[in-house]
Amino acid sequence: MNASKNRTIISFSLIALLATLFSHRTLNAQTNSCVECHKELEEELLAPVDAFKLDIHQQFGLSCSDCHGGNPAEEDIDLAKDKSFKSVPKRSSIPEFCASCHADSTYMRQYNPSLRIDQLDIYWTSEHGQLLKKGDAKVAVCTDCHGVHGILSATHPKSWTFPWNIPQTCGRCHSNSEYMEGYKIPTIQMDEYKESVHAHALFEKKDLSAPVCNDCHGNHGAVPPKVTSIAYVCHQCHPSAGELFSQSPHKKAFDELEISECEACHGNHRILPPTDEMLGTGEKAVCIQCHESDSKPYQIASRIKEKLDGFVEKIHSAEILLERADRQGVEVSEPEFRLTEANTVLIMVRNLTHSFSLAEIEGKIEEGEKVVIEVTEAGEAALNEAKFRKTGLIIATVFILLLAIAIFLKIKQITKKYPA
Ligand code: HEC
Ligand code: HEC
Ligand code: HEC
Ligand code: HEC
Ligand code: HEC
Ligand code: HEC
Ligand code: HEC
Ligand code: HEC
Ligand code: HEC
Repeated sequence: MNASKNRTIISFSLIALLATLFSHRTLNAQTNSCVECHKELEEELLAPVDAFKLDIHQQFGLSCSDCHGGNPAEEDIDLAKDKSFKSVPKRSSIPEFCASCHADSTYMRQYNPSLRIDQLDIYWTSEHGQLLKKGDAKVAVCTDCHGVHGILSATHPKSWTFPWNIPQTCGRCHSNSEYMEGYKIPTIQMDEYKESVHAHALFEKKDLSAPVCNDCHGNHGAVPPKVTSIAYVCHQCHPSAGELFSQSPHKKAFDELEISECEACHGNHRILPPTDEMLGTGEKAVCIQCHESDSKPYQIASRIKEKLDGFVEKIHSAEILLERADRQGVEVSEPEFRLTEANTVLIMVRNLTHSFSLAEIEGKIEEGEKVVIEVTEAGEAALNEAKFRKTGLIIATVFILLLAIAIFLKIKQITKKYPA
């Protein structure tokens, strides 16, 4: 009797145990206690769940516990937050926290073999990383540029690191004079950048090849570029100006004096569309910043400008000539097409400025002026033709008129002779 009672108790307990285990297994397979519980919570305890739905880590099958540790199979908060649970990292330890995966090549290769794993190493070389090491937690850490629970790949237009969101991402700190108080750097970079030819290309023309903050400063190595690296940065996208500059007399002189190549004349954040006025010896000319009026470079600057102005003027006159001919109905599409060739030469001449060589620029201008002369001749011929046609028309009209009068008189004479 006792034995059978015991047996019943044992089998009931076994069933109960199996049932518990079974029910636990179903929870395991279908739910994640971190998400289930946090989605019932409020504010900063709920926010991660909502934001995480779009997160790139979620898309690759990672979840809360991959970053925070803990056991998502346990419903009970104390069991879920077991010894492996890592609480919220301090700002100063975030780089290490993210890099626990991102610097681990074996781990990252399982997901994406082509993703770089050097972000942390490079970060430590940046001004941000250097200062963080010294205990300054106001500098940017990974989450300041990428976000926390809504991290997106840089190719996603809503990502904080997508080109046209970057000025805002950096500007959140760098344009905030209150936040940046106590540092010795200006807070105007974003405002200046927004006026630049680069920002115009990016935001107005939607040209994603135009540089934003990270193209000149690096993604993870943000430092003010040194004299040599600035040139490297600009050369990458403006190889032709860069090449000419490197072969110009300025190259050696600038290197020796540690003048920054492109920046000296174009600036850095507020690069404006260049104009011919930057050349020569006028008020807005950059050349007079360094060259005295009695120096040879000053004379050269002045000659280059004269030549350029002359060429521009000739193209302009040819344009006016063709317009006049066109208005008078003469076909001028051929010389018009030739004139675009002269305009191409003009673009080349402006680029050739960076050789700072009068001989080279003169040579190019002569080439262009030959074209303009041909166009001008064609334009004049067209105008002559128009004139010729006009006189022809007048003669013909007068002739027809005289004929009409003669016929009229003749008819009158006949009707007088033979009245009806
Ligand atoms: C049964 C509910 C519940 C479960 C399950 C749960 N949490 Fe929480 N979590 C909370 C509450 C409540 C807080 C608020 C702080 C506290 O009481 O510890 C919190 C706080 C946190 C915090 C921030 C503050 C801190 O204490 O470090 C993190 C991070 C966190 N949970 C992650 C997780 C992860 C990861 C899991 C899954 C492994 C998880 N939670 C499972 C309820 C839960
Ligand atoms: C890619 C790693 C990562 C993942 C995945 C992740 N977290 Fe976090 N979480 C962090 C970091 C880093 C912080 C600290 C952010 C900070 O201090 O700015 C944090 C902070 C938190 C906080 C504290 C929020 C606060 O404002 O105090 C909670 C709660 C939290 N996480 C819950 C979750 C939950 C729930 C999930 C899953 C839906 C999750 N986390 C997924 C990295 C992660
Ligand atoms: C548990 C490991 C792990 C942790 C911790 C982690 N990540 Fe990731 N992260 C990944 C994996 C895996 C991917 C997906 C690989 C991919 O995007 O190709 C990824 C993708 C990313 C991407 C997108 C890369 C791209 O362009 O494709 C960014 C950005 C990113 N993580 C930033 C962070 C930041 C910031 C932190 C710290 C708050 C962090 N990660 C913490 C594993 C992790
Ligand atoms: C100052 C801002 C900033 C900080 C700080 C920062 N990142 Fe990035 N991160 C970027 C930008 C900008 C990109 C790239 C955008 C692009 O590809 O055009 C990027 C790209 C990435 C990528 C994609 C792969 C790659 O290298 O291009 C990963 C992964 C990543 N960051 C992780 C991290 C981690 C981990 C940290 C912290 C150690 C971190 N980032 C700190 C701005 C930052
Ligand atoms: C969380 C705020 C924060 C964000 C976001 C941030 N920075 Fe910084 N940055 C700082 C602080 C603080 C310093 C230290 C200032 C100093 O060097 O005196 C700094 C320093 C720098 C420096 C060095 C300046 C110098 O001359 O010493 C550069 C360059 C820089 N940041 C570029 C960037 C770029 C580019 C981005 C965006 C991709 C960015 N920062 C995002 C806070 C931030
Ligand atoms: C076309 C390249 C370029 C772009 C784009 C650019 N910078 Fe710079 N930045 C520079 C150069 C060059 C310097 C060095 C100035 C010097 O030392 O003469 C610099 C210097 C800085 C400094 C150091 C302090 C200072 O003003 O001299 C900070 C901070 C900075 N930039 C932030 C930014 C931010 C934020 C953005 C985006 C809104 C940005 N930069 C966009 C080229 C660029
Ligand atoms: C990531 C590529 C990139 C980098 C780096 C870059 N630029 Fe540009 N730059 C562009 C693009 C794209 C345009 C716009 C062309 C257009 O739409 O007319 C442009 C336009 C310009 C213009 C105006 C050209 C014109 O004909 O109106 C100047 C001047 C200029 N950049 C100078 C610089 C200098 C100086 C640097 C270095 C401090 C630099 N750029 C770095 C891509 C770049
Ligand atoms: C000594 C002054 C000076 C320096 C240094 C300089 N430029 Fe220029 N740049 C000019 C002038 C002047 C013009 C305008 C020419 C014109 O429109 O008549 C110009 C025009 C330009 C243009 C538009 C015309 C073109 O070339 O397509 C670009 C792009 C440009 N510069 C890029 C650069 C880059 C990149 C560097 C560095 C390698 C650089 N510049 C260095 C003076 C300079
Ligand atoms: C940032 C200063 C700076 C600017 C701006 C500048 N130069 Fe120079 N330039 C120099 C230096 C330094 C030298 C070498 C010493 C010398 O010959 O005066 C030099 C040399 C030259 C030379 C070579 C002279 C020779 O004897 O071979 C020419 C030509 C020249 N510059 C033309 C120009 C023109 C044109 C401009 C305007 C577009 C200009 N420079 C703008 C600093 C500058």
